[in-house]
Amino acid sequence: MSETLIEVRDIGKRYGNVIALSGVTTSVHAGEVTCVLGDNGAGKSTFIKILAGAHPHSDGELVVDGEPRHFTSPRDAQALGIATVYQDLAVVPLMPVWRNFFLGQEPTKGWGPLRRLDRETMKRTTSTELAAMGIDLRDVDQPIGTLSGGERQCVAIARAVYFGARVLILDEPTAALGVKQSGVVLKYIARARERGLGVVFITHNPHHAYPVGDRFMLLRRGRSMGDFPKSDLTLDELTAMMAGGAELEALSHELTAELGQDSEVAQTMSQDVKVLDT
Ligand SMILES: Nc1ncnc2c1ncn2[C@@H]1O[C@H](COP(=O)(O)OP(=O)(O)O)[C@@H](O)[C@H]1O
Ligand SMILES: [Mg+2]
Repeated sequence: MSETLIEVRDIGKRYGNVIALSGVTTSVHAGEVTCVLGDNGAGKSTFIKILAGAHPHSDGELVVDGEPRHFTSPRDAQALGIATVYQDLAVVPLMPVWRNFFLGQEPTKGWGPLRRLDRETMKRTTSTELAAMGIDLRDVDQPIGTLSGGERQCVAIARAVYFGARVLILDEPTAALGVKQSGVVLKYIARARERGLGVVFITHNPHHAYPVGDRFMLLRRGRSMGDFPKSDLTLDELTAMMAGGAELEALSHELTAELGQDSEVAQTMSQDVKVLDT
């Protein structure tokens, strides 16, 4: 068994009267990928905001390194080595790759009035770190805006690894990417895992999750549909759980609109959706 970094027990989040998340249980282990799957509005971002310290949880328990925690700011999570790569990536497009790599954490040299940015160290380190992750960039001097979406995700992953992340949270890193670039990002997720990080990979695509995932937690409308180790779940089962819920729900709405709430077919269908929910 590998080291348990994070345990989430029956966690929940309320925004006033809105229950955005409830009853979520899963875990993150060193050298493993925990996938969080769910459709739009399922609660995936809410879940990672809890892990990242952006929104404190209102129910349940968050245990990091064996100790119960209640994060009140992203700094609390960062101090424990939990790094989050958000989908919008917060980069400065016109700045070179190496500036973005060190953004907000620039090393300096010299003292007093002679103190200045250590550009050489930043460039060299960026090159070395990207190479160590197997990312082949011709020139770290090019503006990060010239990189593809996939490459930018990879730079963000390498950056988190360099600054000492033990847990890497990725919010839908492949959502906006084509097949080939998604493949590249999946490769770096696998590489981060090989380097011993615990990775939390958020996606709505079972075909992206299954090849790299060790554990799968499925969300639907703010509730957990279960937490499965890979040995308990085939790709077909995972796909069926994802598609089953979404399709049935869409169909149920369609039928209700078409035939009216009281029709027998619509009622049976919405009953089935409820069964899937429990
Ligand atoms: N700040 C907030 N205030 C109120 N409701 C919110 C807030 N953030 C998210 N929600 C609600 O929580 C639910 C889950 O949203 P979210 O976590 O963004 O889903 P996902 O990332 O899976 O698409 C949605 O119904 C959303 O309306
Ligand atoms: Mg989201």
